Amino acid sequence: MSIAFIDSGVGGLPYVLTARTYLSGEQFIYVADNASFPYGDRTPEFLIDTVSRITEHLIAHHRPRVIVIACNTASVFALPALRERFDVPFVGTVPAIKPAAEVTRSGRIGILATSRTVGAAYLDQLVDVHATECVIERLAGSDLVEFVESQGLFASDQEKRAALRDTVERLSTQSIDTLVLGCTHFIFLKEQLEAMLGPEITIVDSRDGVARRIVTLASQPPQPKGVDSPEDQLWTTGETEQYETISRHYGFRYMGSLSRDVNRGAGV
Ligand code: DGL
Repeated sequence: MSIAFIDSGVGGLPYVLTARTYLSGEQFIYVADNASFPYGDRTPEFLIDTVSRITEHLIAHHRPRVIVIACNTASVFALPALRERFDVPFVGTVPAIKPAAEVTRSGRIGILATSRTVGAAYLDQLVDVHATECVIERLAGSDLVEFVESQGLFASDQEKRAALRDTVERLSTQSIDTLVLGCTHFIFLKEQLEAMLGPEITIVDSRDGVARRIVTLASQPPQPKGVDSPEDQLWTTGETEQYETISRHYGFRYMGSLSRDVNRGAGV
């Protein structure tokens, strides 16, 4: 049995890296639904449908003990429907508004996410519950999602800074002291954002919270990794080329495309 992760692309990989440090003997199965990328342009109905199909496939073929929706956009729109439909425990990645409200001194928090997440009613609820006293500045970064998916993983520091220039300019005018990375793809830009925004702005993300939640939900303790432990697997649903390199780089066996199975529905 394994822990499965679903994202539209590379965004969930930093979450797997963090989870590996908490659960060293576990097998991780990663699905990059890159045929549907970007999730930020998709309707809630589409997101529920596509993530449900992948979930069905994962349950039928891998029996994961936990499924991590390693994408804020999909978590915000599809989690309630997934939890209603499937018995497997889900961990969502939702914008880290609560931790941000705990660290802000000025009460001015920025959130950088996809346009769907930024406009989501679920985000309003998070703010109402955890950050009522705070002012929340919302910024959509769809171009940055595209950048990270297409070249961000292996882009140079200079290229990442160039991609971030406009966003940093906009954030710098908002007098925030805390920034929430509300899209998993943006973890790949965190180091450059920190350097460009300076020490006055604290950047928070949900990797540790998600890893701790997985530990809580994974009911049996993992076995120490040995020679016979199954390898971590990475699957895609579309274009495969860059994912072969990515799999090697992140310690997965690249398994190919799920697309035909997923398109045909459950149990195939
Ligand atoms: N990584 C996803 C998120 O956290 C979305 C990226 C996309 O638009 O596909 O929201």
